[in-house]
Amino acid sequence: MASPNPTDKGPTEWNEGRHGVGPWEGEWPTDSRFDPQFLEHGDTRNVVDQYRYWSMEAIRADLDQRRHPFHVAIENFENDMNIGTVVRTANAFLAEAVHIVGRRRWNRRGAMVTDRYQHIIHHDTVADLMAWAAERDLAVIAIDNTPGSVPLETADIPRNCVLLFGQEGPGVTPEAQESALMTCSIAQFGSTRSINAGVAAGIAMHTWVRQHANLDDAW
Ligand SMILES: C[S@@+](CC[C@H](N)C(=O)[O-])C[C@H]1O[C@@H](n2cnc3c(N)ncnc32)[C@H](O)[C@@H]1O
Repeated sequence: MASPNPTDKGPTEWNEGRHGVGPWEGEWPTDSRFDPQFLEHGDTRNVVDQYRYWSMEAIRADLDQRRHPFHVAIENFENDMNIGTVVRTANAFLAEAVHIVGRRRWNRRGAMVTDRYQHIIHHDTVADLMAWAAERDLAVIAIDNTPGSVPLETADIPRNCVLLFGQEGPGVTPEAQESALMTCSIAQFGSTRSINAGVAAGIAMHTWVRQHANLDDAW
């Protein structure tokens, strides 16, 4: 079987660029994970070198074997523009799935195509999300800086959990915070009332990584 890592054998001059690799040089690998289209024309996708020339299905299947047991959920009652950023970061930190609560439509631009490698699950209501999480023994942790919240910096985040974010403006709905195991706030020191929801999601996901991920598994 050919090496799944084309950086061992593939074109060298293209690998030096950050945005992709050119057509495969030399004899093509026979491993079915490689996509003939990419081998022939090159691969300019924003994927780590390990997955160069792999088909999207092969990458997804590989990610599925390694996903972390945390989920990310974001309320989408007003079509929040940050969801794409949340999806992209959830992909980077290898969340099990991303949950959209409320409206089905969301702006995919910020996701930079990472949504295709991610499991996206829709729930019409907060109650639906809570029921889904309860069936799977997942603790729901709301992330917001509302009164009564506990500092994320010192909180013990359960390994199997759903990190739930709110939208610009209203934040996490009171209904969701009441049903959540706890609400965690991110410490701020300046004048603004809150930070961007996409940024908050990145901080919270990385908190999970710091507490639970095996760093030997990182690229
Ligand atoms: C822009 S905030 C709006 C709500 C915020 N409670 C307020 O009073 O303005 C949108 C979302 O970003 C996240 N967020 C922003 N700042 C945060 C912070 N300091 N701590 C925790 N979450 C935060 C939360 O998920 C929040 O629901």
